[in-house]
Amino acid sequence: MEFLDYQQENKELKKANRILQKQLERSEVDRVKLEETNEKKEYLLRKVITELKEYQNNLEERSHELEMMLLNLQIMQNKMSSLGSLVADVAHEINNPLGFIEGNLTPAQEYIQNLLHLIDLYQETYPQASQEIQEIIKRMDLEYVREDLPKLISSMREGTNRISNISSSLRTFSRIDTEQKVLFNLHECIDNTLFILKHRLKDNKIRPTIQVVKSYGDIPPIPCFPGQLSQVFMNLLANAIDALDESNSGLGFDEIKKSPNQIIIHTARNKDENQALISIQDNGVGMSPDIQQKMFSHLFTTKPVGKGTGLGLSIAYQIIVQKHRGTLEVKSVLGKGSEFIISIPIF
Ligand SMILES: Nc1ncnc2c1ncn2[C@@H]1O[C@H](COP(=O)(O)OP(=O)(O)O)[C@@H](O)[C@H]1O
Ligand SMILES: [Mg+2]
Repeated sequence: MEFLDYQQENKELKKANRILQKQLERSEVDRVKLEETNEKKEYLLRKVITELKEYQNNLEERSHELEMMLLNLQIMQNKMSSLGSLVADVAHEINNPLGFIEGNLTPAQEYIQNLLHLIDLYQETYPQASQEIQEIIKRMDLEYVREDLPKLISSMREGTNRISNISSSLRTFSRIDTEQKVLFNLHECIDNTLFILKHRLKDNKIRPTIQVVKSYGDIPPIPCFPGQLSQVFMNLLANAIDALDESNSGLGFDEIKKSPNQIIIHTARNKDENQALISIQDNGVGMSPDIQQKMFSHLFTTKPVGKGTGLGLSIAYQIIVQKHRGTLEVKSVLGKGSEFIISIPIF
């Protein structure tokens, strides 16, 4: 009986042992599996950590670059604003000596006329001049001097007028706008900018003068920041000149003369008479649809380093849209030309 019990017990123990063995085996398999997945997880985690570190490094580099760029922009902005006030000051200073010259021209002209009249009178009264006087009259070519003096004076007057125009254009362009908009004549703004760009429009060895065709509509002074609007016109006109110069490449002077470089500036009021429309059109290289999509982006340029900054259009857009609640649109055909259309509220 005891032996039977013992046998039974032994059997059960063996069974229990087998079960335990199985469980042990299974848990060993589980353990191996777990280890494997752990290794995998660890591997993945390490990979993610390395990637994150790389990403962080890139971000740090990028943020450093952006910081540098911002600093450069601030330096540029600072320089521009001091240049702006310097230009305004110099332009103002020029007016002072210019005033002397202008002021003296009128009496000078009068004195000269009086002196010439006096000479006439002498000649009438004493037709027989002495030998010495006759010789001097001949040597100085009195007839020529009499003819040339008034021309000389009017050319001096023309010179002072031009200096005065340059000075007032520079002052409008570099004016530091106040916080409040002021009523300003758009056409004056455009003309001032054209005046400053005169040297770039003028003919050179490569091409004839760029024709500027103006057709100004009836637009009242509009509330605006004139200094900023001048900047917009400057950016658009400078781009038009660049586009024209680019379109001339490979062409000779005479070929360009046949189909001249042209900038057409047209202004009008919209139908509702509540917006001023300004269109600046060139027959330069034009733009592909791809470039048209990117052109307003900050720092986008197709020009070589040193020539383009990619800031012109993005700044023009901000000035028109954000500062003046207007719109800036473009129509362009590659190889034909571009037209930029600004619309600004009149009231
Ligand atoms: N009138 C235009 N004709 C052709 N392309 C133009 C014209 N205006 C602008 N673009 C294009 O848009 C780009 C961006 O202009 P902008 O922001 O003024 O920068 P930048 O003149 O310094 O290149 C130019 O590089 C040029 O490719
Ligand atoms: Mg530009």
